[in-house]
Amino acid sequence: MSLTLPLPRVILQKDTTRTPVWFMRQAGRYLPEYRALREQYRDFWTRCFTPEVAAEITLQPLRRFDLDAAIIFSDILTVPWALGQHVRFEAGEGPKLSPLTHGNDLVFLKPEGALQRLAPVYAALRLVREQLDPAKSLIGFAGAPWTVATYMIEGGGSRTFSRAFRWLYEDPASFNTLMELLARITADHLIAQVRAGADTVQIFDTWAGVLPEVPFRDVCIRPTRAIVDAVRAACPGVPIIGFPKGAGAKLATYAQDTGVDAVGLDPMTPLQWARDTLCGTVALQGNLDPLLLVAGGPALDTAVDRILGAFADVPHVFNLGHGIVPETPVAHVAQVLERVRQYRQN
Ligand code: CP3
Repeated sequence: MSLTLPLPRVILQKDTTRTPVWFMRQAGRYLPEYRALREQYRDFWTRCFTPEVAAEITLQPLRRFDLDAAIIFSDILTVPWALGQHVRFEAGEGPKLSPLTHGNDLVFLKPEGALQRLAPVYAALRLVREQLDPAKSLIGFAGAPWTVATYMIEGGGSRTFSRAFRWLYEDPASFNTLMELLARITADHLIAQVRAGADTVQIFDTWAGVLPEVPFRDVCIRPTRAIVDAVRAACPGVPIIGFPKGAGAKLATYAQDTGVDAVGLDPMTPLQWARDTLCGTVALQGNLDPLLLVAGGPALDTAVDRILGAFADVPHVFNLGHGIVPETPVAHVAQVLERVRQYRQN
């Protein structure tokens, strides 16, 4: 894999002369051209699983902005869908799944053939790679086993994750079976994305922040480590970014023990702490508050400068600390890009 692409250059070669920039959820509802395609293809799964449509949505933000990377338009819940679980998206409601309720339900999951069902994702990646500027990175991604399992067990989003925790605490053996199953298919899914043209992969662990110390080790770090080992063995030279949102002080052990090459920092992570604690081990990505991107103005400029200043001499990928929200003005995205570019004329 070419090490001259912007993300591998910073994350693996530790180049600090240039700060690449992309935004989590850079394709999506804040873009009028995405909303137009959404009128035409109303079903979320149709947008994800029609390669031409997914490729077009992936490229939309790159036509508008000078970003360093595209991220494939897909979703972390493609994996439970591919395992045979019913997953639907209802407008304004978020995802709804037919929940797994206990260990016996694991027999309903169908890992054999799951990767074939995800073939449209790989077709979309190939289409993007053909059309994307060869100097730009293409990011593949998946959800981490814990975060994906919370949706599979809760049947959607949750405030308390009480069903997932009860299963974990009352029947750790079958919970671990689920983690191992998800780790295996997630690794295969990431490897297939690399073979289809991704030069960097990111593992989203959006709900890592609710895990106490011991389960953090068992259901965040351990399955992530299994994914990292498998992806690294199959795809040497492809950087792996881990994003355990809300991990706080546990980011230090996450960085050490998972083996990821970079960590995504959420907006709550103190910059100086991240620099002092993490940068000997991993490259850093982040961490602008997506709500500052909504606010704009001088507050946005100040926050961008503060992040660029804190990470000026360490390997850093500029990004948000979580996904772009739909009410974000397009002009504010352009404002940040310009600011990052001007910082070192990069
Ligand atoms: O970053 C990108 O541009 C790539 C696309 C991407 C999507 N989902 C598209 C999407 C990525 C990286 C994801 C990841 C994802 N999906 C996560 C982890 C990151 C995070 O945001 O925490 C999670 C938890 C999901 C699950 C999911 N998908 C939820 C909870 C929802 C509904 C909430 C929402 O934001 O609407 C989705 C739907 C979804 N995935 C949309 C998009 C653009 C909105 C669909 C639409 O209405 O058009």
